[in-house]
Amino acid sequence: MAIKTGRTSEAGRPVIDTGKCTNCGLCAAICPTQTLVADNGAIRVDPDTGFGCIGCGQCMAICPPGAVAVTGRELSPADVLKLPPVAERATADQLKALMLARRSIRHFTDREIEPDVVERMLAMASTAPIGIPPSDVGVLVFNGRARVQELAADTAELMAGTLKFFQPWRLSLMRPLIGPVDFPLLTGFVLPLCREVLANRAAGRDVLLYDAPLALLFYSGPGSDVLDSHIVATYTMLAGEALGLGSCMIGSVTPFIERDKKLKAKYGIDPKAKLSTLLIFGYPKYKFSHALSRTFAEVRQWQG
Ligand SMILES: Cc1cc2nc3c(=O)[nH]c(=O)nc-3n(C[C@H](O)[C@H](O)[C@H](O)COP(=O)(O)O)c2cc1C
Repeated sequence: MAIKTGRTSEAGRPVIDTGKCTNCGLCAAICPTQTLVADNGAIRVDPDTGFGCIGCGQCMAICPPGAVAVTGRELSPADVLKLPPVAERATADQLKALMLARRSIRHFTDREIEPDVVERMLAMASTAPIGIPPSDVGVLVFNGRARVQELAADTAELMAGTLKFFQPWRLSLMRPLIGPVDFPLLTGFVLPLCREVLANRAAGRDVLLYDAPLALLFYSGPGSDVLDSHIVATYTMLAGEALGLGSCMIGSVTPFIERDKKLKAKYGIDPKAKLSTLLIFGYPKYKFSHALSRTFAEVRQWQG
């Protein structure tokens, strides 16, 4: 059996090189689908168990002599990389420092973003975990202020259309249809946001994408989990921070594009793709002097 995703319907095909295998059992111990089984001390491939090989690659990554080769599901032995030595990995304190120093950045210098910086950032983000490999996450890169502004203008046009549609008379007619949860969201946030964005645009200010030199739009292919793209976006933010870029997550663009087939088509996004979020990046214009402490709404210990 194979789990079908947007990119594949085949199972991975693990092969054990018996000449190299020491029968240590590590691959079988960590295989999440029991495709690799330790059988009387020898490793056996059982392609028919559970979900079949999902192509997570963990068996290749854990095998000390490199005796496991998995092909299929967009994976191959060429994907096995040298493990970064412990001394080269960020410590918890270093990672915390990076996280504390990150702020949402809405003011950028004139400097454009070098394409190799975008490439490095996305290569770092591609290490993100995936619900079911291979990743169905897509990223649309708007590099350069003119391209980002085209997206801002397209979104503003959709916002203007939203305001035009939700005239007061239509709003009161539709109130029961919209429901008690969405109505206050629409009237208390979405419509005021549209007005704010459009009024500022008319005054020459971009409070939607903040004149950023780079925007990345994250989405998940049809039938896949949009959570994967949220996770990739978060990884990308932190990667950008490590590369000296400032970023801001923009939640107010994707809900408009999501509903607009024409714009999805213009940007070459599958009409059934699920848009996750948009990130803007640039070199920060201002430096923050302090970090901030935050709390969750709650953290509870389940006592059973
Ligand atoms: C899901 C999400 C959506 C957001 N959407 C917007 C947005 O549309 N416009 C904006 O200016 N900031 C947006 N932000 C940035 C937040 O307002 C920002 O995280 C918050 O002000 C806290 O600042 P900090 O990131 O510096 O801690 C968003 C952040 C998140 C996580």
